[in-house]
Amino acid sequence: MHLTKEEEQILNGEHGETLQKAIEILVALGDIYDADGLIPIKSAQIAGVSYKTIGDAGLEWISDLEGEVKVPAILNPAGMDLENWNEMDISKDFARKQQEIIDAYRKLGVNTKCTCTPYYLEGFDTEYGDHLAWSESSAVSYANSVIGARTNREGGPSALSAALIGKTANYGYHLDENRIPDVSITVECELTGSDYGALGYQTGMMVGNRVPLFHLKNTPSSDELKALGASMAATGAVALYHVDGVTPETQNIGFEQPSENITIEADQIQEVYNTNSDIQNSDEIIALGCPHCSGDELEYIAQLLDNKQVDRDVWICTSREVADKNSQIIDRIEKSGAMVVCDTCMIVSPASENYNMMMVNSGKALNYVPGMCKIPSKFGSIMDCIREAGDNNRNNKN
Ligand code: F3S
Repeated sequence: MHLTKEEEQILNGEHGETLQKAIEILVALGDIYDADGLIPIKSAQIAGVSYKTIGDAGLEWISDLEGEVKVPAILNPAGMDLENWNEMDISKDFARKQQEIIDAYRKLGVNTKCTCTPYYLEGFDTEYGDHLAWSESSAVSYANSVIGARTNREGGPSALSAALIGKTANYGYHLDENRIPDVSITVECELTGSDYGALGYQTGMMVGNRVPLFHLKNTPSSDELKALGASMAATGAVALYHVDGVTPETQNIGFEQPSENITIEADQIQEVYNTNSDIQNSDEIIALGCPHCSGDELEYIAQLLDNKQVDRDVWICTSREVADKNSQIIDRIEKSGAMVVCDTCMIVSPASENYNMMMVNSGKALNYVPGMCKIPSKFGSIMDCIREAGDNNRNNKN
């Protein structure tokens, strides 16, 4: 792997121990994957933030680092709402450790707005062809597929290393040859809303880490593409997909039809909705916003909740910046008794473990809840979830 003179100096420790450790990680990855060198990145997104997932060892590793990131870098969701954690049944001990992790990242110049949808945030505008070092799998999928930017699925330490150096190793999805689709998926039914999460849930299991090219009957919105990519990255390891005539590389580059084709039928989509659908549990939480909600999704949820009062815990997960920009919508949602939760999500927060069942509109969450939160999960559209949350009409009360 070719290194510039300055990169050699960093590797030799001439710019301090933190940068030396950081470039060692990048060079090790580059050597494993046969990279020809390091390339500049526009931004980094760093996973490994929740105290639930990284524990004391992770906290110690981050706290030992010094210096400042060279490109805009942002955190993945933490284990709690950083402002309203006491409303989430989080222990004081957990909150203290979580705050120490956030402070350690902040000391390195990392933006501590914790989200898996950095592409909605100011300062993280991402364009076609940009090279990135992002780590949360749905964000990686969205950047690669929907925007046409280029990133591998970084681990937390490699994303932070890339942020500190301002570069990443040039391999994997940074290279044209690894972005060519190798399996075609033909969907035989019309899809809408959470159907895309169900489609991703099914196809992820079938395609593993390959690059699928979808042929769809209708044109998905960016939120629907977000749901598709998030699910495929969870049940499989898909970091890049294309939708014929929709995602940018199918139009700017154009691809030949892969030789293998998989057909998806309506009953396979329905199967996902059937998961645990017969289980009713009084201690159930409804959790929306995996990945974090966009402004449009918040508005849709608010419309469904207007004049309703929920009769169980409902979390709507989003980033603090999107919530702040949509404060009137948030007020409407919270009037129903639902809680808008920022900086965290239903998967990485330990608070989810206080329930016996979770209903979600996300194929990714459906897949992760049993393992990460140790409770069963079921799946529905946003409308199904709001219906399940209770349809008491506020105006009829009292
Ligand atoms: Fe985001 Fe948490 Fe889902 S990080 S993609 S909301 S599991």
